[in-house]
Amino acid sequence: MLDALTVEKHGAETPVSIREDFPILSGTGAAAGAVYLDNAATTHKPTPVLDAIVDYYTTANSNVGRGYHRLAFAATDRFDQARRTVASAIGAGSPDEVVFTGGTTDGVNLVAATAGAELVGPGDQVLITGMEHNSNLLPWRRLCEERGAELVVVPVGPDGATSLEAFDAALGDRVRIAAISHVSNVLGTVNPVREMTALARRRGAVVVVDGAQAVAHRPVDVAGIGADFYCFSAHKMYGPQGVGVLHGRSERLADLPPYRVGGGTVKGVRFDEPVSYVPTPARLEAGTPDVAGAVGLAAAFDYLRRLGFEQVRRHDAELVRYAVSALGEIGGVRVVGAPERDPSGIVSFVVDGIHPYDVGGYLDQHGIAVRCGVHCASTFLDALGLLGTVRLSFGVYNTTEEVDEVCRALRSVRPGTWTAEHPNARFL
Ligand code: ALA
Repeated sequence: MLDALTVEKHGAETPVSIREDFPILSGTGAAAGAVYLDNAATTHKPTPVLDAIVDYYTTANSNVGRGYHRLAFAATDRFDQARRTVASAIGAGSPDEVVFTGGTTDGVNLVAATAGAELVGPGDQVLITGMEHNSNLLPWRRLCEERGAELVVVPVGPDGATSLEAFDAALGDRVRIAAISHVSNVLGTVNPVREMTALARRRGAVVVVDGAQAVAHRPVDVAGIGADFYCFSAHKMYGPQGVGVLHGRSERLADLPPYRVGGGTVKGVRFDEPVSYVPTPARLEAGTPDVAGAVGLAAAFDYLRRLGFEQVRRHDAELVRYAVSALGEIGGVRVVGAPERDPSGIVSFVVDGIHPYDVGGYLDQHGIAVRCGVHCASTFLDALGLLGTVRLSFGVYNTTEEVDEVCRALRSVRPGTWTAEHPNARFL
């Protein structure tokens, strides 16, 4: 049996369960006593992250980079420190390569609206893979429609993976941007982003990586990956919702025009002079940033670093392999893809003859939270020939006993009210 990860606690003789770090798991709300397996959508937040946010608001709350008073300096220091922590956690060349965004979606939209608008013209191509989440598909599709360019999709195989050969074959001379996910949010498939990036850059394409499902599960080294841009969100890595990071290679960021314009982006404005913008990252962070969010995100990285990625990965891998094997023993249940190949905390499955929403609803009646449906990636589900899947996504507090609870419930699940003909059969 695999328990939740354990942590050393001051004053405790032996390591204690990590679950104690997550107040929601023992609180009185809807999560109390529930089996939470929807971490790919949002993870819970540990006390050190919550404390860091409360501490910011109770000791340093002010605006950053503007005020000329000690509280404004304290807030600015916290914000700068958060940027340094993130830069060091992801192996960025400098803190100035870290742009705080509203999350992965915001980061991809930023790149599409700035670098994309400059690079992509009529007849050009933008390359994505067949497994992309809408957030790494729709900004590129819209850009192509606006620019008279073509969106090219690298096909996925029946195992839900994109081969390097297929990716290479799709990389024609007209590809200006290649946008790829690091880890699929649907099946947990891990893309060889380092190799894909090298191939694409060699052909002159700018590479954008959606790292939303990677950062909580593996150490991310942006310099090693070598992409031009790498985006992720805090809320899937034990940090707060509504904040994330766009990492950009410094020479790429330096070229970018502002995304949104407003306070904090300019040196000064005169009606009779052209506007002169400040350097990045501030140029790309118009308006008051989510300082507490950035502080919470940095605290989440500190938390993961204290746990150690080796431990996190081992725990992930054991849960994924256990789930694949346990689900395989239930008649009518089929795991989609090969999540055990390079486990990344996600196992998706289908149940013969039962709509994924009926399975999800039934599991919810048993106090088990999963995501079901198309996972904001209906084009991927189309490629797999599926109406949807039921997705288990693990975090550091999950246990094999929780997987057993899922399996116990699945043994008695029956078709319910959802069918392929249901008017909203694929709505999420
Ligand atoms: N992108 C998130 C998910 O896969 C919301 O559930």
